[in-house]
Amino acid sequence: MLHWPFVVRLVIAVDGPSGAGEATAARAVARSLGYRHGDTGARYRAVGWRARQLGIALDDEAAVTAVAEAARFDLDDGAIRIDGHDVTSAIRTPEMDKAATLVARNAAVRTVLVARQRALGAEGGVVMEGRDIGTVVFPQAALKIYLDASPEERARRRAADPAHTSGRIAAVAEVAVDLAARDKADSTRSVAPLMKADDAVYIDTTGIPIDDVVGRVLALARERAGARGSGPGSRD
Ligand code: C5P
Repeated sequence: MLHWPFVVRLVIAVDGPSGAGEATAARAVARSLGYRHGDTGARYRAVGWRARQLGIALDDEAAVTAVAEAARFDLDDGAIRIDGHDVTSAIRTPEMDKAATLVARNAAVRTVLVARQRALGAEGGVVMEGRDIGTVVFPQAALKIYLDASPEERARRRAADPAHTSGRIAAVAEVAVDLAARDKADSTRSVAPLMKADDAVYIDTTGIPIDDVVGRVLALARERAGARGSGPGSRD
């Protein structure tokens, strides 16, 4: 792990549609910088999983919000537990994709989760990824990245990712239909829709190896950290 010699602890916001590579890029950037990685989608997914486990209908807004309020999350190096249940792989099914999208439309749930996300980033030193990080959660983030890729490429990546297809290789066409539905739901909802922040750096990752994307984000982070000075104790 390559930790920077200086101690500016930035907040780096990474947003974009499903399959654009946010999770992979954010994790790799966080690792190189010795920052925490905040996977916000995992929390929306976990709340959906827990609500269903408790027999709560996902359109029962008050009951799902109560689940989010009471939830104890434990995220560690890609693994996630909610209320003591390890849901690392259970939340990555096509069914939970849909559940998370429904949960994410609930404004009260968003209020609860956004407050927790802000607490996580309050000290800086975090790469947080999701849909609304640069627009809502951390509008003052030192560096905002908006990752995108063509719908075809995003569907190909998702279809080839066993973590997202219950361990089997899914048909690209099938995944493409689900992705298009999620894109639409995420970008047209009334609360915190997916959109690029005006000051986010747009990176089209179509056909670009993930290492190059990570290198580009790291270079931008270095630039922003340099602009803020490198003295001990500097904070984002
Ligand atoms: O990133 P991931 O695919 O795990 O996110 C699952 C769903 O959670 C998204 O489709 C979106 O509806 C929702 N989400 C959100 N805001 C975030 C992160 C995820 O609305 N910051």
